[in-house]
Amino acid sequence: MDVMVELRAVTKRFGAFHAVSEVDLQIRAGEFITLLGPSGCGKTTLLRMISGFETPSSGAVLLEGKDVTHEPPYRRDVNQVFQSYALFPHMTVQENIGFGLRMKKVPRAEIDERVRAAVAMVSLGGMEQRKPSQLSGGQRQRVALARAIVCRPKVLLLDEPLSALDAKLRHAMQVELKELQKKLGITFVFVTHDQEEALTMSDRIAVINKGRIEQLGDASQIYHRPKTTFVASFIGQANILRATVLSRSGERARVQLDGGLELLVNAEHLAGGTGSTLVSIRPEKIALRKEPQGAPENRFEARVEDELFKGATDQLRLRTDAGLVLTAVVANESSGQAALHVGDRVFCHLHPDDIVIVHEG
Ligand SMILES: Nc1ncnc2c1ncn2[C@@H]1O[C@H](COP(=O)(O)OP(=O)(O)OP(=O)(O)O)[C@@H](O)[C@H]1O
Ligand SMILES: [Mg+2]
Repeated sequence: MDVMVELRAVTKRFGAFHAVSEVDLQIRAGEFITLLGPSGCGKTTLLRMISGFETPSSGAVLLEGKDVTHEPPYRRDVNQVFQSYALFPHMTVQENIGFGLRMKKVPRAEIDERVRAAVAMVSLGGMEQRKPSQLSGGQRQRVALARAIVCRPKVLLLDEPLSALDAKLRHAMQVELKELQKKLGITFVFVTHDQEEALTMSDRIAVINKGRIEQLGDASQIYHRPKTTFVASFIGQANILRATVLSRSGERARVQLDGGLELLVNAEHLAGGTGSTLVSIRPEKIALRKEPQGAPENRFEARVEDELFKGATDQLRLRTDAGLVLTAVVANESSGQAALHVGDRVFCHLHPDDIVIVHEG
């Protein structure tokens, strides 16, 4: 595995405040990695330490194995696309995109050729002579991207590059960006606080909370095996329940929820033996039946207490006989299929792997 970017115990303090704490991260060459976390968790600060606009208080930043912690931005083969686009207002699209190459004194003919290719890549043909003020937000965003890509950096840092776009354009740009990254083989470090965007675009996701990486993994690991309550509830919806571990054998544990219900669960993230813990259950993993099915293991009865129409899905609030309240999500009824309504009694079935032990986070 070729490591392109490495962070070693990187910490950034502003006065007494720790914006980034002891972050270790290896980013592979050609990888699309996303830093995901709430506002203020330290995403931009991390990017700025990779690009060199910020110096760590302690720790080291390495590019292709070389320590660049104290190198200025222009000495690093890294380009950053800023959320604010930062285009030159007096320059045309063409001039904006070619700016970096002119600064590097690349020959004129080569600049023209590379700018032409970059314009085509971001589908801005015909707009070369416009000024930024004559473009839409999405078009400006693409100019900013083309301007970064045309320099062919080894690493491209993108700080919430799609946040200003409407939902439809945003989805289109997500697909375009991902294809572009694959085509060019550039390492992308992408920042967002949009969990769906992170899940669809990334090879790996680093979930950040209060300046620390809380979990690193691919989309499926992050979604299906969250390690902490923070990850479980920041990415998607989760029922977080208090429980006591009764016994453990290998990858399974038997827990008792508050209220008495016993369940067989996934024990991957169980650190110790028995004792008090938390479990996370995704709402769509609760299979609801009007009649009991299969073995009684991980099955319990509940009543539908509330129903929310969400378009493609229905969100239900369930109350078990022991008084436990759970959120469930079911695909919307198609004609002929029995639907569930407020007041209905249901049998809830859960697969042990869909009940995950999580730590408080
Ligand atoms: N120059 C600075 N001086 C003092 N505090 C700062 C400075 N820059 C950032 N911070 C603080 O560090 C923390 C992390 O900021 P950062 O900009 O990295 O967050 P972020 O994850 O990018 O948030 P957002 O999603 O809102 O962009 C914040 O609490 C912020 O107020
Ligand atoms: Mg930010």
